[in-house]
Amino acid sequence: MADLSLLPPSAAVAGDDIAVGGCLLTEVAERFGTPAYVIDEQALRATARLYLAALTGRHPRGRVCFAVKAFPSVAVIRLLAEEGLGCDVVGAGELRMALAAGADPAKIVMHGNAKSDEDIRLALDAGIGYIVIDGFDDIDRIERLARRPAPALLRVSPGIESQTHSALATGGKHSKFGLPVEQVPEAIARIRAVPAIELHGLHAHIGSQITDVGQFEAAIAALASLERFGVYDFGGGLAVRYVRPDQAPSIDEHVGRAVAAAHEHLGADIDILLEPGRSVVAGAGLTLYRVVTVKRAGKIHVAVDGGMGDNLEHSLYGYRFAPLVVGRWSARPVLADLVGRHCESGDVITPDVELADPRVGDLIVVPVTGAYCYTMANNYNGALRPPVVFCDRGRARLAVRRETYEDLMAREVDC
Ligand SMILES: Cc1ncc(COP(=O)(O)O)c(C=O)c1O
Repeated sequence: MADLSLLPPSAAVAGDDIAVGGCLLTEVAERFGTPAYVIDEQALRATARLYLAALTGRHPRGRVCFAVKAFPSVAVIRLLAEEGLGCDVVGAGELRMALAAGADPAKIVMHGNAKSDEDIRLALDAGIGYIVIDGFDDIDRIERLARRPAPALLRVSPGIESQTHSALATGGKHSKFGLPVEQVPEAIARIRAVPAIELHGLHAHIGSQITDVGQFEAAIAALASLERFGVYDFGGGLAVRYVRPDQAPSIDEHVGRAVAAAHEHLGADIDILLEPGRSVVAGAGLTLYRVVTVKRAGKIHVAVDGGMGDNLEHSLYGYRFAPLVVGRWSARPVLADLVGRHCESGDVITPDVELADPRVGDLIVVPVTGAYCYTMANNYNGALRPPVVFCDRGRARLAVRRETYEDLMAREVDC
């Protein structure tokens, strides 16, 4: 029988099909086409509530800001805002999406290691909660552009070499993000000399897909070695399980230990912000593909109608997934590479995976694709970026339509 344990909790086998959010995936695939990103709306809402309860249950002065980069879609931001989450945005583009989604500007935090004048201008005009100062040039820019005192946090690189893929580690000695602990007093003094900036607190985000909760605690302890403030933002970064053997702390454990470390090192009389991205959306999402071809030449390659145009997680970070062939519950599995349709050998969704005897036309479900897949979707080989479909209590609705060939040409001046 199919193992649905990596799919959202609503997932259930329904004869030869799988239902998610009460919607049959074969019907979703027929109606919206493939590849398609599917979001289980109730699973997303439940995770948002879990985060909020885990934080505010232990620390009432807590705010959870969804890291928009993990799924930069108005529909997702709106749904999470309805559940009470704020937003962490990077730059003017994500800020525009958050504002379009109706997010409360006071609950928005802006990041960016190289913010442009345009980014800062929009943040100032929108009156967002905090601009997170990432370095001395941010201070100069805000000083030049702000007409009234802008609330800000200062990003600290706490010198923690987090155990994750090197591309996702952001808190180490040589990070391009924030300022190292040694430069923080100078930055604080510089900020204090600028009437156009109100410095409220410190921020540290040590990376993404982090499994060791102790590393978050170490970052909090590093912040405590600096001048004390009333606001602390501990970033995001909690890992998720992509395949069954993966280990990841629960949201409750992660938040519980972060709050305990904050109370121990910084006291209880502070505002705490968290900025989770991956752990909010990853598990609520899945991708639907059709098998286009199966080649049995030495290795078995099962190629689908998507690939690195809609999922770069394996190509960039080596992540693995646990795909299911819908309906082939009792077929004998074959060991195959699940690959895409793009022109490079690195176009692999997941290698060396057991698939239940897939045939051309079969529907493949790849669980845990809710984070950073939509974000990094691209037009490699003229691929059209997939739609996003929300499934909820038996109703499937389009949240983002599929790109068209007209969209693909839209910026070409010579067409
Ligand atoms: C400043 C900041 N906050 C939050 C996040 C979200 O991280 P994650 O998606 O791992 O929770 C990121 C992404 O790496 C980030 O750069």
